Amino acid sequence: MKKRVLVVSSANMDITMPVRSMPAEGETLLCDGSISYSPGGKGANSAVTFAALGAETVFCARIGRDSHGETLYDYYKDVGIDVSHLVIDKDHATGCAAVVVESKGQNRILCYPGANKYLSESDVEEGFLSCPDALYLQMEIGQDAILAAANYAYRHEIPIFLDAGPARADFPLDSLPPLTVFSPNETETEIYTGIALTGTDSMLAASMELFRRVRAEYIVIKLGDRGAFVCNGRHFKFITSYSVRAVDTTAAGDAFTAALTLRYLENGGDINDAVRYGCAVGAITVSRAGAAYSVPKSREEVEEFLAKQEGEL
Ligand code: RIB
Repeated sequence: MKKRVLVVSSANMDITMPVRSMPAEGETLLCDGSISYSPGGKGANSAVTFAALGAETVFCARIGRDSHGETLYDYYKDVGIDVSHLVIDKDHATGCAAVVVESKGQNRILCYPGANKYLSESDVEEGFLSCPDALYLQMEIGQDAILAAANYAYRHEIPIFLDAGPARADFPLDSLPPLTVFSPNETETEIYTGIALTGTDSMLAASMELFRRVRAEYIVIKLGDRGAFVCNGRHFKFITSYSVRAVDTTAAGDAFTAALTLRYLENGGDINDAVRYGCAVGAITVSRAGAAYSVPKSREEVEEFLAKQEGEL
């Protein structure tokens, strides 16, 4: 049976500019290629991934009553996302992100939250009328909405998966109810713990520090093209990623955590298998340009990718 996932998170219009290298302080650089406007936002990138991989995807977010909002709304409907809990905010603009992508695919992002900031506790509670099998959260919306969603899910015994981006050093992680998975990337891990990830010892130390603050069954640290570090507080494991040519890393982490979540729900809670699947989905995503447009289009695409990778081993 299909899993229903409630994504309580953000929606943005991304303005992406390719560059050869990042501008230095005081420098103006001409962009190296075409500017593009395309759907992004951590929540939307994840919601599009869930829908493509076959989940019933309910997206609880806020967009503005403006042209970006209209474009995003139509796109979500086209890709099969349930938009009945997507709130149109008449007072605030749709969130927007300036994404600068270097030739090796690395990105830097500056985000204007707009309507994302105003997702309210009551918007979130209404989202639960969809009776989800799991709650999926990120940190690109207001603190009250995140805590309201997590607490509601916990009270109703709905498992919670939290992708910890973007890092918010001031977020009271210890106020969160117990989670199934808490997943930061390397930068976010360092911001939350103060520990730079230089090797296995530091990854373990950072995970243990996170376990002191977050009640989670698993910490999954995303390591980009190296894969992921999985820890349950007693054991840890590295899961290596798949080798692809990186075009644009935008949305790879969002797609990874969404894929991991869905696989975990479907495979009866096998975290290592779920993380491996997340790595495949992340690898496909970095091999293409854009945010939501770059995630896999279907489960079959991921299966073909995995079969090809295994054939090459
Ligand atoms: O994780 C990538 C996303 O971060 C981009 O799509 C941008 O909108 C920001 O939210």
